[in-house]
Amino acid sequence: MENNIIILGIESSCDDTSAAVLKDTVLLSSVIASQAVHEKYGGVIPELASRAHQQNIVPVVDTALKEAGISIDKVDAIAFTRGPGLLGSLMVGTSFAKGLSIANNIPMVEVNHLHGHILSHFVDLPDRELPHPNYPFLCLLVSGGHTQIVKVDAPDKMEIVGTTIDDAAGEALDKCAKVMDLPYPGGPIIDRLAKEGDKDVFKFAKPRVEELNYSFSGLKTSFLYTLRDAVAENPDFIEQNKADLCASLLHTVVDILVDKLIKASKQFGIKDIALGGGVSANSALRARIEAEGAKRHWRTFLPELKFTTDNAAMIAVAGYYRYLRGELSTLDAAPIARYEEMI
Ligand code: KG4
Ligand code: ZN
Repeated sequence: MENNIIILGIESSCDDTSAAVLKDTVLLSSVIASQAVHEKYGGVIPELASRAHQQNIVPVVDTALKEAGISIDKVDAIAFTRGPGLLGSLMVGTSFAKGLSIANNIPMVEVNHLHGHILSHFVDLPDRELPHPNYPFLCLLVSGGHTQIVKVDAPDKMEIVGTTIDDAAGEALDKCAKVMDLPYPGGPIIDRLAKEGDKDVFKFAKPRVEELNYSFSGLKTSFLYTLRDAVAENPDFIEQNKADLCASLLHTVVDILVDKLIKASKQFGIKDIALGGGVSANSALRARIEAEGAKRHWRTFLPELKFTTDNAAMIAVAGYYRYLRGELSTLDAAPIARYEEMI
């Protein structure tokens, strides 16, 4: 469908400042400024994130428009992340969107960050259409802050059918990485180290959680105790076993994630299965979903790597669908930190 609608997307919910321009669902540009400032603290420091967003947002938006070859007066709507996320970070993107909206008389559309991750499967590239799932599909959404199975019936109709009752999968990986003295964020490093290790060397506790829900705090504790006891006997234990520890840990996380996804697919009779969120960049998880998909006749949708972690293209596409439905925001739209309070 060609509507020739130009959407400027702005994402600032955590530690990446990002802007993207879409013509309908076709990506014209995408710019991401990641914040290195948090690495030395082993986690995102909200105060520093807000300040870095403040420094980055004008050049990032400016570059996205220039790279797309679009002047601001050609933009039909500004899509911005209203939440969930860090309040101070969201405030920067939200306020910037409002300023741009007032100054140029352009309507605004607010986007739920998690809807963005899910709808990232509908972004196309200028030289090729990407594969799109058919509705209804299931999306396993795995990020630093969320672990959910979402049943997606339409762009504006989705239901969380399973969620974590404690830590998110990415959060658990990042925390275990920290214990191994790996830099933040640990997920990508565990991914890399795991490739050189043996997944069967260590066994970690798998949770028993009702229905389609998840839990990762028991696994994290089991990992911590294994390390604590082993290091007491051999101070070099972590260094000597890093690859096997990463492989075994990751294997357990992937098992936990995929077990419930299989259950959900059976329960709803849905075989279009999509992955989304930062952890969907993980090679072991991607390989496992492909393998299960082949075995179970699923159609699997793995996002391009650039659409896995936080980006504004996904915010722009989610904004595009809202714009088509006429769901515009008003100038009093304030950021929302928690998912439960979102639209
Ligand atoms: O979606 P995202 O960029 O931000 C949130 O909304 O949370 O996800 C960030 C999370 C972090 O926990 C990071 O460690 C994890 O995604 N991550 C990975 C990989 N790349 C990013 N985890 C495992 N393997 C990866 N390759
Ligand atoms: Zn995210």
